[in-house]
Amino acid sequence: MVDLSTTYLGLQLKNPVVASASPISKKLDGIRSLEDAGAGAVVMYSLFEEQIVQESLALDYFLSRGTDTYAEAITYFPDLQHYNVGPEEYLNLIQKAKQAVNIPIIASLNGVSTGGWIDYAKKMEQAGADALELNVYYIPTDFSLTGQEMEQSYIDLVKDVHAQIHIPLAIKLSPFFTALPNLCTRLVQAGTSGLVLFNRFIQPDLDIETLEVTPNLVLSSSNELRLPLRWVAILYGRIQADLALTTGVHTAQDVLKAMMAGASVTMMASALLINGVKHVGEVIDGVQSWMETFEYESIQQMKGSMSQRAVAEPSAFERANYMKALTSFDNRVRY
Ligand SMILES: Cc1cc2nc3c(=O)[nH]c(=O)nc-3n(C[C@H](O)[C@H](O)[C@H](O)COP(=O)(O)O)c2cc1C
Repeated sequence: MVDLSTTYLGLQLKNPVVASASPISKKLDGIRSLEDAGAGAVVMYSLFEEQIVQESLALDYFLSRGTDTYAEAITYFPDLQHYNVGPEEYLNLIQKAKQAVNIPIIASLNGVSTGGWIDYAKKMEQAGADALELNVYYIPTDFSLTGQEMEQSYIDLVKDVHAQIHIPLAIKLSPFFTALPNLCTRLVQAGTSGLVLFNRFIQPDLDIETLEVTPNLVLSSSNELRLPLRWVAILYGRIQADLALTTGVHTAQDVLKAMMAGASVTMMASALLINGVKHVGEVIDGVQSWMETFEYESIQQMKGSMSQRAVAEPSAFERANYMKALTSFDNRVRY
């Protein structure tokens, strides 16, 4: 029997297949069904800063950097009322989930500015959450905002949220940073124990007939795994934080690749929305039988075995890979 167990944020997980934040965890039945399907842990859908603070000055500051007025920005948010229940219900759901299941429950706060709203981190801890994931989803459209200021705002937020809680904190990041390893190092110094790589930015589409910008959520595929895979492989063993890989995890092979790159856990959303919650069990079975076939004894044994530090050719994760990939296409050009 192979040992699928892993640790993430100091929590003992029976396997590394974690349900990423998604609408599945909005109902107690969804959380129960994730446990029944075998998930190692559940990250709950997010509670948004906008839900907690409708009229915060700090939020106003951030929002107005990207849009002309706060009022204009806020008109875009009412959908949230449909997406989520309110903050109190969120805390109730954490409490109920903790009574109903044995797997760890990771609460999720989603915001951009520091301020009173982050009290909810403490409330989530008091409600029983085993850990907290902080999702910072911010599009820096202000031409005067520098990268340094932007990074500092992330660090301040992590510091402030960390100061509120005793449970472990992870931060879910976007891939769009100039110097990710340096930022990650400073986020760890600020108090995060986990890096969730990456937030999948849902890019707006244009409706060319109605002339509207449409949210249009397209779910991921395994092709998107490579971006987080590369960065997990680069960071593994060089940073004092657990790495969670999210975006593009659909199959047992995807989970195995993530483990070999150095992730402690993988997080799935799209695959579960496409195939149903039972897909968790199929992926875990697939991981187990692959490990048996290839005679791996444990997840721990394979973890990081293909990280940048471990592979024979570390440059394969860098520019050399890009050049190799481009030249590999030369013979396939049709004139
Ligand atoms: C319908 C939907 C709702 C989501 N809601 C949240 C959320 O509330 N908070 C969050 O941090 N991520 C949310 N995500 C992002 C996922 O947790 C995940 O990080 C992302 O979809 C990439 O993983 P995937 O390729 O498995 O979908 C959501 C994704 C989808 C598709």
